[in-house]
Amino acid sequence: DAGTIKGHRGSVLHFLRDPSDHDGEGQAYEYFEDGILVVEHGKVVHCGDAEDVKSRYPHLEIEDHTPHLIVPGFVDCHVHYPQTEMIAAYGEQLLEWLDSYVFPVEAKFGDHEHASQVADFFVKELLRSGTTTALTFCTVHEESVDALFEASSKRNMLMIAGKVLMDADPYAPEQLRMNAVKSYEASKRLIDKWHKRGRCLYAVTPRFAITSTPEELQLAGKLLGDHQHDGVYMHTHLNENKSEIELATSIHGSESYLSIYDKAKLLGPRSVFAHCVHMKDSEWKQMKATDSVMAFCPTSNLFLGSGLVDLHAVKEHKIRCGLGSDVGGGTSFCQLQSLNEAYKVGQLSGFKLDPLSAFYLLTLGSASALSLNDRIGNFLPGKEADFVVLDPGSTALLRHRVSLSSTLQEKLFLLATLGDDRCIAKTFVTGCCQFQRRLEKSAQAL
Ligand code: GUN
Ligand code: ZN
Repeated sequence: DAGTIKGHRGSVLHFLRDPSDHDGEGQAYEYFEDGILVVEHGKVVHCGDAEDVKSRYPHLEIEDHTPHLIVPGFVDCHVHYPQTEMIAAYGEQLLEWLDSYVFPVEAKFGDHEHASQVADFFVKELLRSGTTTALTFCTVHEESVDALFEASSKRNMLMIAGKVLMDADPYAPEQLRMNAVKSYEASKRLIDKWHKRGRCLYAVTPRFAITSTPEELQLAGKLLGDHQHDGVYMHTHLNENKSEIELATSIHGSESYLSIYDKAKLLGPRSVFAHCVHMKDSEWKQMKATDSVMAFCPTSNLFLGSGLVDLHAVKEHKIRCGLGSDVGGGTSFCQLQSLNEAYKVGQLSGFKLDPLSAFYLLTLGSASALSLNDRIGNFLPGKEADFVVLDPGSTALLRHRVSLSSTLQEKLFLLATLGDDRCIAKTFVTGCCQFQRRLEKSAQAL
């Protein structure tokens, strides 16, 4: 039971700050090769060397995960749960891909039963991929938000989500279009119903500048303004694809994409902009000045052929940046795979994403991007005990390759490059095991 004090033994790794921030003070991470993470009432009490913890807590009940690696639960800063239904759709870039594949699938989420089935599959898929917190799009339907929060609440997951706003005719297709005032009122009802209920948090979610009229963006800005003191988020897309940028700026008669959102007062420390692939210098500066956040979605940016994020600029401008899977534009729920692709994006511009910075981004970095670093992201006392047990020997290749490596950095790099959901042995949410890997039934013949 979650109330009793319990130790989890294994190699334990967590971060205290960004290891690539060279002005940062103190050590960036703690690693206990033989460590114990102590949990009580769903919160972290302590973590340290096994011998030391055992002498402090002589009667501690211990679950032994040795020789696996215990790390904080992964955080996904940008994902679309309804798109679980069409992940890996062939042949198109953003705008055609939305019309051909995304919108038809999203149109079905007015049916609560359907939305619940997909939401259930989605949260289970997050957990089996090691993700314990996500910022997710729903659809324009109020029911889609209920279904998602019902599914995440059942597993007590810290989840941020919101109803999608899209009212622009003809860019939002008729079956997904909702009048801006109606959408605003539905969003308000959903904030009252779900924001801060258990571990649920709400995000005002205009899809992107193309599918919302200026009036709708203004109302979204008002909603954010009225609720941001209470920790409500804003979640949208920005500068993903060149045709998208051209269309968005011409519809709104704006010299930059970000200015469209700025005009509607949508920027700020809890505003998360997915992609940021093609940014002007002025837009980076505007992001920084408002403390706005970007979600870096490498598997999606490559799959949809959107482009390469300028990681040098992100660092240079000190932009708050988290990692997103962007499923179904992204191709994996497992954020280890996002790291794999992130490294390759860096390689193409001479930016080295080192393994410690990568694991920081996966955990505390993304938690900080979502302003949740006071609750999750590492194992300091009092943090909510969301964690993952990683098995670096889960595949023959990893086992073989890791056995030939010597340093922690090397092992982390192998996990980030060769690892995927097969490495997730167990996932714990507030101290309770919500996923345990078994040998799965072999694939059916096509
Ligand atoms: N821009 C607007 N909607 C979407 C979406 O569903 N996915 C992605 N990747 N970009 C978008
Ligand atoms: Zn997206």
